[in-house]
Amino acid sequence: MGISKQIETTMENSSMIRKMFEEGDRRRQLYGEENVFDFSIGNPIFEPPPEVQQNLLKLVQSNEKGTHRYMPNSGYPATRQYLAKMLATDSGLSFSENDIIMTVGAGGALNVIFKTLLNPGDEVIVFRPYFMEYNAYVGNYAGSVCAVDTKDDFRLDFNALKKGITAKTKAVLINSPNNPTGVVYTSDELDQLGNILREKSAEFGQPISLISDEPYRKIVYEEPAPSVFPHYENSIVATSYSKDLAMPGERIGYIAISPKHQDHQLLNGGAVLSLRILGFVNAPALMQRLLPLVGDVCVDLKPYQTNRDILYNHLTEIGFTCVKPGGAFYLFPKCPIEDDLAFIEAAQELNLLLVPGSGFGMPGYFRLSYCFETEMIERSLPVFTKLAQQYQLTD
Ligand SMILES: Cc1ncc(COP(=O)(O)O)c(C=O)c1O
Repeated sequence: MGISKQIETTMENSSMIRKMFEEGDRRRQLYGEENVFDFSIGNPIFEPPPEVQQNLLKLVQSNEKGTHRYMPNSGYPATRQYLAKMLATDSGLSFSENDIIMTVGAGGALNVIFKTLLNPGDEVIVFRPYFMEYNAYVGNYAGSVCAVDTKDDFRLDFNALKKGITAKTKAVLINSPNNPTGVVYTSDELDQLGNILREKSAEFGQPISLISDEPYRKIVYEEPAPSVFPHYENSIVATSYSKDLAMPGERIGYIAISPKHQDHQLLNGGAVLSLRILGFVNAPALMQRLLPLVGDVCVDLKPYQTNRDILYNHLTEIGFTCVKPGGAFYLFPKCPIEDDLAFIEAAQELNLLLVPGSGFGMPGYFRLSYCFETEMIERSLPVFTKLAQQYQLTD
């Protein structure tokens, strides 16, 4: 075959997920859209808040010249000033526009960060279970992901972290609120994490960056998700508006580098260059101009919270074990059997589409997304009960 061996192998490895999507489509055609309960993807079906459309209309109708041209690679100064002000209030640190680089979503931000940071052979520590795209993003720059365990309740396991850090560790990557567990790390946890990274940076004589992937930061139910910046100086945030404005297709996000990062200047210059030479050039202009206009708006969290409560209560009532998520829109229950792939297939036979924990580096679990209409979720409950009965979890 005439394509890259690495891509060919990755395609083969991801064929399981692809097969699952194909099976979902086959079932929708066979049994009708309304009889297939698809909990597999984190693509919100809700529309962006009305402020998004209102302000986009104003922007496209404006006669201001030059708004579709190239701009500084890091993005429009006005947008970055707006974000710097917001981050300063949020973290108590003195952010300026020079600490912000606008990106093509959080995925684009992470690629720019890894391109900037990694030498071949460098390691990035992640906590299992984790978003599998991290393997590809780190691998793109010849780095490797080193996954360490979390505790039973998916909270950070600091002993595992300490053992995982070596002279090759360039960064630790966290994601809170978490995909797939919904766990939100507390200020105490971030403090402990910061202390360990400080100690280990000193031990190995090089700064270990903390990269915080935060596209779900505003999607929280009981407690807010604290900023990482006050807890560790060598922090870098990668984030986007894909989830909180429900517009993942518009691909707008940013990188924020702590003004206290030891390699602050170098990182900033490197990231701007990386953004350009990766071919992103700059983040979408229209979306950059939208951000200061919509301010702090967020999708309505009520439907998500309702969905979380309905599903969490039902699944635990019928015998599944599950950590109650504090944010994002995913649940990550334990499978009643070890073989998560066999369990997912059994669910599929009932037209229930779930994602195996293996897809997050954690076999024996499954993920379901709940960014869908509550009505669909309510209709699916008897099907979950039937599934639990098959495994004698409930009568
Ligand atoms: C944990 C996590 N990080 C990053 C991304 C990528 O987000 P974006 O659409 O902003 O690139 C996602 C998307 O689902 C995600 O779940």
